Amino acid sequence: MSEGRYEHILLTGGCGFIGTNFVRFVLEHRPSVRITNLDALTYSGNAESLRDLEGEPRYRFVHGDIRDRALVDGLVREVDAVVHMAAESHVDRSIQDASPFVSTNVGGTQTLLDAVRSAASDGHEVRFCYVSTDEVYGQLPLDRPDLKFTERTPLNPSSPYAASKAAGDLLCGAYRHTFGLDIVITRCSNNFGAYQFPEKVIPLFVTNLMEGEPVPLYGDGRNVRDWLHVLDHCEAVLTVLERGEAGEVYNIGGNNERSNLELTREILRIMGKGEEMIRRVPDRLGHDLRYAIDATKIKRELGWEPTRSVWPGALEETVRWYQDHEDWWRRVKSGAYREYYQRQYGNVTGA
Ligand code: NAD
Ligand code: DAU
Repeated sequence: MSEGRYEHILLTGGCGFIGTNFVRFVLEHRPSVRITNLDALTYSGNAESLRDLEGEPRYRFVHGDIRDRALVDGLVREVDAVVHMAAESHVDRSIQDASPFVSTNVGGTQTLLDAVRSAASDGHEVRFCYVSTDEVYGQLPLDRPDLKFTERTPLNPSSPYAASKAAGDLLCGAYRHTFGLDIVITRCSNNFGAYQFPEKVIPLFVTNLMEGEPVPLYGDGRNVRDWLHVLDHCEAVLTVLERGEAGEVYNIGGNNERSNLELTREILRIMGKGEEMIRRVPDRLGHDLRYAIDATKIKRELGWEPTRSVWPGALEETVRWYQDHEDWWRRVKSGAYREYYQRQYGNVTGA
């Protein structure tokens, strides 16, 4: 990738799955760029994942909340770009309790946008990249493989999680339209790769199988997701940040659709396990049938397309990462990683 035009990025949610990969990706591919990572260390934020970067002069961790206006006001004025990834991210949790989703994904996004607006009114212009999701478009039917989400597809979110992300997405559009802020939006499909919290389907299934436990497949397993390697996603976000047109939305996809049953069988094959390890469990409430991204625009306008998302190789490599990092996921699954937070950063939030 060519060298970018931003010197100092404020990344929110950098201790989560995608954020951890994004920090590493930027430090590796942009040798002169600095990153400040603002993360509240909720249950899914893991400071241990970036522990090896302590002492790296181009990286700084700030333990704090995106809803803390005074804090974000100060941080936004130190940088020339914001990449906003912090969120409550798990659909099943949003079905149990929507409150933290609305608070962080809507209120937190608004707080950041107000900080960017305030800095701009004092002459400090900051580019703002909102990491949205394909879930804002709602679901596609299973019997129309010709249909895909484009950037013009109306937003029609199904779950409380998706609705809260859509609200953040719409706020970004409104702040662009009303205040002329320099905002770009990305909407991407399901990520897979290293450092994903093992409540999400791939790391959950792989680590369950390593523990000799069955894998809980929701409903009939026919629901379809488009799988994108997390480093392809990081590269695409950086591309949009650096070269995207202000006010534009860019879809990001992996061209890699699989039903959950196909995904499960692939994991079982890679791990040498049989179908008796599948446990059929009741379906997720309101379970979206299919997501599929048309990523023509980002390819045509910015020249980006996925290169790391090809299966079975990319999935095999991801399974191997969890097999090789048993310490990492065992500490996450047992909650032991939280002791590290407490020692390093004091009180942490979330379940
Ligand atoms: P994650 O749950 O792994 O990480 C979220 C991070 O945000 C955690 O480190 C958490 O501590 C932090 N955070 C939560 N609330 C915060 C707050 N109030 N203040 C500061 N930090 C807070 O999520 P992820 O899978 O890495 O997703 C990152 C972003 O990408 C999210 O915005 C999500 O909606 C979006 N996204 C994810 C996927 C995917 O497949 N994982 C796909 C499309 C879009
Ligand atoms: O599409 C992008 C979205 O992908 C992101 O916006 C979300 O933050 C991210 O969590 C992810 O959402 P999903 O709900 O698609 O991911 P999850 O891993 O939870 O589930 C993937 C599919 O697997 C989904 O159809 C539900 C199914 N599933 C999931 C779990 C956790 C199961 O069958 N069993 C399970 O135990």
